Amino acid sequence: EEGLHPTQYPWEHYRWVKTFDHQALRRGFQVYREVCSSCHSLKRIPYRSLVGTIATVDEMKALAEENEYDTEPNDEGEIEKRPGKLSDYIPSPYKNDEAARAANNGALPPDLSLMVKARHGGCNYIFSLLTGYPEEPPAGATVQSGLNFNPYFPGTGIAMARVLYDGLVEYEDGTPATASQMAKDVVEFLNWAAEPEMDNRKKMGMKVLTIGALLFALSVWVKRYKWSTVK
Ligand code: HEM
Repeated sequence: EEGLHPTQYPWEHYRWVKTFDHQALRRGFQVYREVCSSCHSLKRIPYRSLVGTIATVDEMKALAEENEYDTEPNDEGEIEKRPGKLSDYIPSPYKNDEAARAANNGALPPDLSLMVKARHGGCNYIFSLLTGYPEEPPAGATVQSGLNFNPYFPGTGIAMARVLYDGLVEYEDGTPATASQMAKDVVEFLNWAAEPEMDNRKKMGMKVLTIGALLFALSVWVKRYKWSTVK
C-alpha cells in the first residue's frame, strides 16, 4: 500500500545554481544530534567530512573526543578504549540490530546516511513524514497497537512516533525552532549526508558551462576571422 503522495516543496538546494545553505546544514546536524541520533545511526559519515561545510576542525575534534572507540588489538590481543578522532565515524546508538529492535518495540530505525536517496520522494517524503503526524488518526483508520498513524508512511502504521515539537532544540543562530523548521533543516542535512559532493558538482558544472561558452565564442570569432577574406 502506498502512502499519501508528499507535497513538492521548493527546496533551494534542488536548484542547479544553488549550493546547500550551510547554516541550515549546521542546524540540521544539531537536530540530528539532539533528536534523531538516539535511535538512528549515520554510519557512513566520519567526523572529518563535516569540517569546513558544517563545523570547524576544533568543533569536530571536540565532538569526536566525546565518544570512545576501540583501539587496534595490541601484541597481547587486548583491545582498549581511546577517545574519538576526526577520522572516526559518527557512533551508532545501538550495538547491533537486535539491540535496536529491542529498544523500539521490534522495529528497526534505519540508518539515515543514504535515506534521502533510498526513499521515493526524497526530501519531500521525509519532511512530510516528520511533520505529518495528525493529533488523532482519522475516523475509521485502524492503527495496530505500538504503531503510529502517519498518512505518508506506506501502510500508514509507523513504529516511529512523532519526534519534532516546536521548541525542542535551541538554535545557536537564533532561528525559531518550530517543528517544520527543524524538519526542513534535518532533511537538508540528510540530503547533504547522502550527497556531500553536490556543491562541488554544481560549482564544477558552472565552470564547465562558463569556460565552454567562452571557448565557443572564441571559436566563432576565429572562424569568422579566418574566412573573412574568402567571402
Ligand atoms: C523510521 C527519520 C527520530 C525511531 C524512520 C524513517 C525515517 C526517519 C526517514 C524511515 C521511514 C521509512 O521507512 O520510510 C527520522 C528523523 C528523526 C528520527 C529525521 C529525527 C528528527 C527517531 C527517533 C526514534 C526513531 C528519536 C526513536 C525514539 C524510528 C523507527 C523507525 C524509524 C523505530 C522504523 C519505523 C518502521 O519501520 O515502522 N525515521 N527519525 N526515529 N524511526 Fe526515525
